[in-house]
Amino acid sequence: MNKIMKAVSVAASASLLLSLGACGGGRSDSAASGDAKDAKDMTIGLSMPTKSLERWNKDGANLKSKLEKAGYKVILSYADNKTSQQTSDIENMANKGANIVVVAAIDGTAVGPAVEKAKDSGAKIIAYDRLIMNTQDVDYYATFDLEKVGALQGQYIIDKLGLKDGKKGPFNIEVFSGSPDDNNAKLFFKGAWDLLQPYFKSGVLKSLSKHGGGVSANFALDKWQSIGVQNWDAAKAQTDMESILDSAYSHGEKLDAVLTPNDAIAVGVVNAIGTKRPDLKAGSANWPVLTGQDCDAPNVTQIAQGKQAMSVFKDVNKLADAVYDMVTTLAKGEKVTDATGKYNNGSIDVPTKLLDPVVVTKDNLDLLKTSGFYSEADYNKLVG
Ligand code: BGC
Repeated sequence: MNKIMKAVSVAASASLLLSLGACGGGRSDSAASGDAKDAKDMTIGLSMPTKSLERWNKDGANLKSKLEKAGYKVILSYADNKTSQQTSDIENMANKGANIVVVAAIDGTAVGPAVEKAKDSGAKIIAYDRLIMNTQDVDYYATFDLEKVGALQGQYIIDKLGLKDGKKGPFNIEVFSGSPDDNNAKLFFKGAWDLLQPYFKSGVLKSLSKHGGGVSANFALDKWQSIGVQNWDAAKAQTDMESILDSAYSHGEKLDAVLTPNDAIAVGVVNAIGTKRPDLKAGSANWPVLTGQDCDAPNVTQIAQGKQAMSVFKDVNKLADAVYDMVTTLAKGEKVTDATGKYNNGSIDVPTKLLDPVVVTKDNLDLLKTSGFYSEADYNKLVG
């Protein structure tokens, strides 16, 4: 860029900043109030990322059935993890006159322009579970405390390896983050890494592989994408874990733990251990501590079998309830008052309703039944 172009571009960004400042945080004010409407006169769009992961099927179905029972018209779509598909799903909702569009983004940044179009057509926008980035056009966000999810995973590994009790190891750990295009993945990783990094610094935790360029004491948070698994894909996690095991654990080296940020990745890692290190036996002392989140069906079985130590339970019924409450409040033309948290999306602080995630292990696995997350019959099948 030559000097003149640079000056023009600096001036342009400055005026952009000023004009953003002048609108006082964007168009989200329109979320505050409006005309009350009857449920039957309202259409709610629900844009979900994919059917390929169990949780999103539950999320979509829960919310749709609650809203339909209350009389709302619902358009529910799944975008097959394709950002272009999600864009056209949301545009379609806007064209059909959706009054509120709820979006669980595939890629929080890529979805911005579609959301802006929906907002222009008069819809309110609720980000569901994953934040929509770099736009003013998000009215509310509902999610589980994201850093806390990662902190629960990191803390679990610390407790299980006895690090707080002074065990010196050194312990070998491999570290994954989630999908590089998912803002949640960064925050999950931050929650875990803030707790684990001091043990890398003191030499108690070590990562033997060069996965993602290698994770060592000075691994910077902003490098999290280098150890990510695109689309949280179990098969990709398996391939990555197989190369980790081939490159650094093929001569019987011990593997004490793997930070697996969600259940799909934990499935991939368990499969990789099965193919590359069949000498490791689930439930015995040589099996690594594996983490997860979502309490997906295969993982309930993995936990019961001792293959996965824990999963973070995010009761998506409660998330559906929270978003349902937001929708009904907005339908009454009122302001949502319980979104007291906030997440910055690079453009504005989005008012956020934060829910609490809970650790599930073999010891309290039946919470998944008593909470109604699984029916008794399904739960019994899963735990065998
Ligand atoms: C969600 C997790 C989920 C992951 C993959 C994340 O954004 O918060 O619950 O495991 O996406 O679907």
